[in-house]
Amino acid sequence: MLTHNLIDVAGGREGEDTAAPQAPTSNSEFARDLKHALAARPRSISPKYFYDAQGSALFDRICELPEYYPTRTELAILGGNAHEIAAHIGPNAQIVEFGAGSLRKVRLLLDAMKQPAGYVPIDISGEHMARSAAALQHDYPGLRVEPVIADYTQDFELPAPLAAGRRVGFFPGSTIGNFTPQEALHFLGRAARLLRGGALLLGADLIKDPAVLHAAYNDAQGVTAAFNLNLLARANRELGTRFLLEQFSHSAFYNAPQQRIEMHLVSRCAQSVVLQGEIFEFEEGETLHTENSCKFTTQGLRRLAARAGFRPGPVWTDAERLFCVQWLHAPA
Ligand code: AVI
Repeated sequence: MLTHNLIDVAGGREGEDTAAPQAPTSNSEFARDLKHALAARPRSISPKYFYDAQGSALFDRICELPEYYPTRTELAILGGNAHEIAAHIGPNAQIVEFGAGSLRKVRLLLDAMKQPAGYVPIDISGEHMARSAAALQHDYPGLRVEPVIADYTQDFELPAPLAAGRRVGFFPGSTIGNFTPQEALHFLGRAARLLRGGALLLGADLIKDPAVLHAAYNDAQGVTAAFNLNLLARANRELGTRFLLEQFSHSAFYNAPQQRIEMHLVSRCAQSVVLQGEIFEFEEGETLHTENSCKFTTQGLRRLAARAGFRPGPVWTDAERLFCVQWLHAPA
């Protein structure tokens, strides 16, 4: 299905600086996927269900946590290399952001760019996007802001490229790490086609000391635990389940062979839950796998991007090599 919906950006308010990386979804889709997850062994569900309003607010708090280095490290990489990155982007470019956008991140690019011509945020949440788009339009009156309501993991069309400059995709935050390797390859292949003749600026989290990773996903304030448990709270709110949150615990650990953080919700006792008339049993210790957050090497990511049709270019990273931002050229 091709989607190409432009929305009116006038009249919105400034949104949060960090963006919910994935889209809100309908109740029926959530009910169907949760039932499927609860019936399967092992049990797992897409992390996209974290991001209702409460989950998005919790994610914004995660981005500010002392243990959660990715956001501030990526901001520092973008800020510290903005002029060099802007030189690669070139004059009069159109920035296409996958996701409603972190205004802080895209502003670092726009401020360094020579005459940025256009900004196209793509997100399934029109409301969140309208706020981001209106805020940018207000601060960059000469910028052509054209939001597109679409699921960026599916096929969709972009507004026409602007005559003078190139089109450059922007996918920060290591959201690519929340895809399965197959999904990541599909996403990159689709992006290479959409951005033909331009490039993709991709932010990704790097493999590192597991203790650093462990701390980032097991913060002392328990915000990540609340974010994980919000999945059950959301089911209670939207689907009428009666998950007892205190009977589940947050578990996040580094799976070294798979090079990923896994998040799970662990049942603390034998219990059952009713979802739309169906009963699902949990044994004590049984888990619902809620997220993978894959970690990369710069070379591994370059190889993946090359398989998807990109020609990998420069890589910017921080002194501790925690995170990287890669320039991926999309051949015409
Ligand atoms: C959005 N995504 C890149 C975050 C991550 O680190 O994988 C989501 C997150 N999960 C727990 N903390 C943050």
